[in-house]
Order: sequence, then structure tokens, then C-alpha cells
Amino acid sequence: MIQRTLLMIKPDAVTRKCAGDIISRIEHTEFRIVQLRMCVLSRNDAEKFYAVHRGQDFFEPLVDFMISGPCIPMVVEGPEVIQAVRAMVGATDSKQAAEGTIRKDFGTDGRRNAVHASDSEETATREIGFFFE
Ligand code: CMP
Repeated sequence: MIQRTLLMIKPDAVTRKCAGDIISRIEHTEFRIVQLRMCVLSRNDAEKFYAVHRGQDFFEPLVDFMISGPCIPMVVEGPEVIQAVRAMVGATDSKQAAEGTIRKDFGTDGRRNAVHASDSEETATREIGFFFE
């Protein structure tokens, strides 16, 4: 099934000039980047995007991190792309992510993990709508 997912390069990876390498990884797959932009999230935007995590101990530092610099959200399209991109991204904590994954190669720890990727069709629809019309 052709799907769309939201992949967002986070401020740590943008600031360290890893965005091109991450985009290149996507371009070396069968998937297509169909929309992309660079933006700096407001505190309100970051709190809204991660509203599901409100109340967790990592929520406030996560919001501070997400507004610390530019993000690059993009929409990636292709067959079963949601799970495929999740697999490319790897485990949440970059220290525990498998070799060869984006988070292992470009992230630092549990928070500064280089990218975010939608985890389901429902989440993808919501997250794509958050950044793109
Ligand atoms: P992401 O996949 O974007 O979804 C929620 C984010 O919260 C996650 O990536 C991390 O950046 C952050 N996060 C999740 N769990 C933790 C944790 N235990 N400690 C610190 N940050 C976390």
C-alpha cells in the first residue's frame, strides 16, 4: 500500500550539518520526498506536536530541545513507507540504536536523536497535517 509518513530532522542534526546526509539516505531508497521545509518551532507548536508526551519527565527538556534551532520536516511517500522509515531511523535512544540506523549515526542520546518519524498511519496523517496543508 502506498503510504505517506512525516520524517523530521531535529535541531541537533540540522545544527551539526547532518541534514544533507539524512536526506541522501532517503533518496537512496525507493521512496520519494514529496514535501519539505525548514522551520523553527514555537514553544506552543512543540508542545502541541508532542502533546501525547505531556506529563512525562522528558517533556519539558524535549520541548526546549525542539525549539533550540531549525527543524526540517518532510513528507516521504512509497509502499509501506511508515514502517520502512521507522526501521531506517532505529531505536529512540541513539545510544541503543542499531548500527547503520539514522539515530545511531547522527544522534547523541535519548533526546538528541536526530530525527522523528511517524509510527502509524493515524499519526502520519496528523503529523503531516501539522506541518503541511
Ligand atoms: P521522538 O521519536 O521524536 O518522540 C518523542 C521524543 O521524546 C523522542 O523522539 C525523544 O527525542 C524524546 N524522548 C523520548 N523518550 C525519552 C527519554 N526517556 N529521555 C529523553 N528524551 C526522550
